[in-house]
Amino acid sequence: MMGRLSGILLLGLAACEPAIDEPAPGAGEEAYSGEELFALACSGCHGADGRGGASGPDLEERTMELTEADVVDIVLFGSGYMDPVRLTEEQALRVAEYVIDSVED
Ligand code: HEC
Repeated sequence: MMGRLSGILLLGLAACEPAIDEPAPGAGEEAYSGEELFALACSGCHGADGRGGASGPDLEERTMELTEADVVDIVLFGSGYMDPVRLTEEQALRVAEYVIDSVED
């Protein structure tokens, strides 16, 4: 019951984000790549490419001195004006990898 409900909620979210691809084989929310998770959970504030959006700063500048572990912390617990984002630790790690590897350069 809960599983089905959260599946529907996730689909609803994905429908607003054209950048989201099909989850990888294996399914479940764990299957989203860091890039997909970024599109779902971060791009609304930080922009599709992480270079800043309506309500979040440019992550290329902000993550220069941050490690992956720092970004995981920021995602799970928030930082300054940014509220915690509701992801699992595993998802936070995947999105942090994406931010550090792809947004930074
Ligand atoms: C509701 C809007 C919002 C969402 C969603 C959001 N952020 Fe942020 N983020 C912010 C704001 C605002 C700041 C600036 C906070 C400050 O400096 O007080 C910020 C700052 C950051 C910083 C820099 C923090 C620092 O201490 O320099 C990182 C890294 C970051 N966000 C990553 C992410 C990631 C990754 C996601 C997705 C999992 C995400 N954010 C989702 C609004 C958001």
